[in-house]
Amino acid sequence: MREGTSPLIHRLDYQQPAYWIRKVDLTFDLDPAKTLVTSKMQVERNRAVPHGPLRLHGEELNLLRVLIDGSSVSFRQEGHELVIEGAPDADFALEIRNTCCPEKNTALSGLYTSGGSFFTQCEAEGFRRITYFLDRPDVMAVYTVTLRADASRYPILLSNGNLTDSGRLDNGRHFAVWSDPFPKPSYLFAVVAGDLVAREQRVRTRAGKDHLLQVYVRRGDLEKTEHAMNSLIASMVWDEARFGLPLDLERFMVVGVSDFNMGAMENKGLNIFNTSALLASPATATDADFHRIESIVAHEYFHNWTGNRVTCRDWFQLSLKEGLTVFRDQEFSMDMAGTPSARAVCRIQDVRQLRALQFPEDSGAMAHPVRPDSYAEINNFYTTTVYEKGAEVVRMYQTLVGRKGFEAGMKLYFERHDGQAVTCDDFAAAIADANPGSPLATRLDTFKRWYSQAGTPRLTARGEHDAAARTYTLRLAQHTPATPGQGDKQPQVIPVVMGLLDRHGAALALNAAGDTETVLVLDQAEQTFVFENIDSEPVPSLLRDFSAPVVLDDGLSDAALLVLMRHDSDAFNRWEAGQRLALNRILHALRAGQPLVLSPAFIEAMRGVLNHPELDPAFKELALTLPGESYIAEQLDVVDPQAIHAAVMAAQAQLASALRDDWIAAFEAHQVQGGYTPDPASSGKRALANLALSMLVLDARSSGDAVWPGKAYQRFKDASNMTDRLGALAALVNAGAELAAPALERFHALFKDDALVIDKWFALQARAPEVDGRVFARAKALTKHPDFTLRNPNRARSLVASLCMFNPAAFHRTDAAGYVFWADQVLAMDAINPQIASRIARAMDRWSVLAEPYRSAAREAVARVAAKPDLSTDVREIVERALASGESQAS
Ligand code: TRP
Ligand code: ZN
Repeated sequence: MREGTSPLIHRLDYQQPAYWIRKVDLTFDLDPAKTLVTSKMQVERNRAVPHGPLRLHGEELNLLRVLIDGSSVSFRQEGHELVIEGAPDADFALEIRNTCCPEKNTALSGLYTSGGSFFTQCEAEGFRRITYFLDRPDVMAVYTVTLRADASRYPILLSNGNLTDSGRLDNGRHFAVWSDPFPKPSYLFAVVAGDLVAREQRVRTRAGKDHLLQVYVRRGDLEKTEHAMNSLIASMVWDEARFGLPLDLERFMVVGVSDFNMGAMENKGLNIFNTSALLASPATATDADFHRIESIVAHEYFHNWTGNRVTCRDWFQLSLKEGLTVFRDQEFSMDMAGTPSARAVCRIQDVRQLRALQFPEDSGAMAHPVRPDSYAEINNFYTTTVYEKGAEVVRMYQTLVGRKGFEAGMKLYFERHDGQAVTCDDFAAAIADANPGSPLATRLDTFKRWYSQAGTPRLTARGEHDAAARTYTLRLAQHTPATPGQGDKQPQVIPVVMGLLDRHGAALALNAAGDTETVLVLDQAEQTFVFENIDSEPVPSLLRDFSAPVVLDDGLSDAALLVLMRHDSDAFNRWEAGQRLALNRILHALRAGQPLVLSPAFIEAMRGVLNHPELDPAFKELALTLPGESYIAEQLDVVDPQAIHAAVMAAQAQLASALRDDWIAAFEAHQVQGGYTPDPASSGKRALANLALSMLVLDARSSGDAVWPGKAYQRFKDASNMTDRLGALAALVNAGAELAAPALERFHALFKDDALVIDKWFALQARAPEVDGRVFARAKALTKHPDFTLRNPNRARSLVASLCMFNPAAFHRTDAAGYVFWADQVLAMDAINPQIASRIARAMDRWSVLAEPYRSAAREAVARVAAKPDLSTDVREIVERALASGESQAS
């Protein structure tokens, strides 16, 4: 082990705790500078572990006293543990008093202040920053919480469960007592205290029970909570209808806070949200924001069953709740979207996200299995692999056992494990046991390799038609590349949903029953499937609806891809065929080192999509958007970010000019009349109109035409909703139009008091396509803007993460200035908020595949950060893994 490396926690070292805490009675005397916490716990020895002291976790606390059954007891402090050797074997009462300092807590983990109110964040290990405890998810206790605070500054006092008492105290203070009837792990504990207001709604469920729903926000934000409330109600209805899972609480509260490390948190009965994942109004939020809010509100609500009622035994099982809950929120969003085409749009967006973020993770320094084997800092493993790849794994269960079979599996899972802290194996067993004889149950051990192997499997497919025998033989082969620390990979279970089309696009019967779609289950390195009665060479449509998270090489010609793009019954594969056509051209140009020229056939195909009489606008927008630069980089062994950027810009310019008249027609035909609603149909029209506008402004830049920039500016000024306003602004900024500067200035003046909109203003500038280093220079200058601060995670991300993680061509510079900027920001951030610093640190995950001179300069910047002696565990783990990944590559 390298010097200064933090110790690794290993999955296989799991042991039950020596003691259980069954009940806890917490009292908070809330004060920003010094909050007093009194914790009275009912503790019992774990009969399964009869030896060993009581070890409680605690960080950044001032300990005042420790009593067992009312008497003081001897203890010692070992690092972040409070160790009590002499605890009785019989059940006992443990009382601890300590203080903490919420206003100095810039890490936003534990108890902290934001905008003058108190909030908590306890997942994963934040509760130990509030008081000493067995802060691990397999210790589940029943909580009673008393909050005392100044009544005028903190009129609202909230915690989990039901309000059981409240009243006035001396000195202008007041109190509230909350009791949560459900035993829970400490990571689901929450407190909120402040001057907040609530939107309220009473609802009656199918089962006939009444519930009170509340959304708490700062004064002035109430009118932005309607969409969140509607999303919450829709989530309740859906979970009961689809999975038979009702709300189990009389009161369900949601609270918004502007300083928050992630999207939101599923604390039992008291979900806490980043305001960016909660607040929306037509004037300030885009269609994408409305959609994201709906899905995050649903995600946190769904955790009430998948996470809270059944929780994780240890943090290695994180995907048990996160993968499953993302799967559930994705299914919810698709059901809410309604039409088959709107569902496909959801699926395409999810897959695009997976490819842009998870695939690079899975081939970089931080590659890890869905159920990791070790970590130094658990906060580093709230990743797109655990969440999004985990959700794809759950989707494959459903594909293998069918929708009804999956619902039966979920039912069995809750029958077996309600109220327990369990593992991914328990989930797999429940789904398989409810579906005996299914392709899942018969291959369960092989299927579970999805939990243990990192890396994205490569699936190769080659077909051969035998005209004489009238057969089509499909050979499937799989291979998963090595990842850091995992050399040899075994074959995985890959469900391949597929069909065959004839040359004219007609679906062919795959069997005697006449089915035109089937699921091939690949579970070996190589397998062959034969289809009978196939008269002529078919076009295979494989991996429909993206039935497994793999990279597919089907070797299809452009002609075959065009057939799929025009005729496949699977909308996902129609989109995919178009993306592949574009990708093939871009990769060809990059590999040949030649300028990119789009072929007339490709341009005509795109024109066909844009003018198609039946396709949805939302689908058209997705089909006409070129593959992202990070996805293109994924296809290459050596990555030159500037070359990729140049190729994409060239492709875009050619599409803009070749389809100019069609873009004009599309822009005009997709104006939405009437009041704003974020429904799929009108947001699809806005998306296509905005794409058309950005193409027209881009083309005007090269043709010298002033009409479209002028129109964009006018639209920016007159827009009645944020989607159109930001779309027009982006068209100007992304094309580098002269009117961009006055538009940006006007936008800032209009929204200077709305932090979430100012975040968009920063992000738009930091993500603009780089031209001659101007975007980087502007972004760097913006760190000196009076509105910029590293203390607010949303603001830090809007500028620093936007530039370093989402704008490769601005970030990767031959003069290494991007890397110097990155190192400075990571180090500055680490002193404030290690979780956010460590997220930004991940911009260098894939430094070792960069072309020179980027590679050497990037390595130097990573080494400079790693050399800092007092780094957080969070950042240290990221930069050391980055350096190590380069070493293994070189050898
Ligand atoms: N469990 C949360 C979710 O997926 C996310 C989460 C984990 C989180 N750790 C956090 C949120 C820290 C905020 C801060 O919904
Ligand atoms: Zn979650």
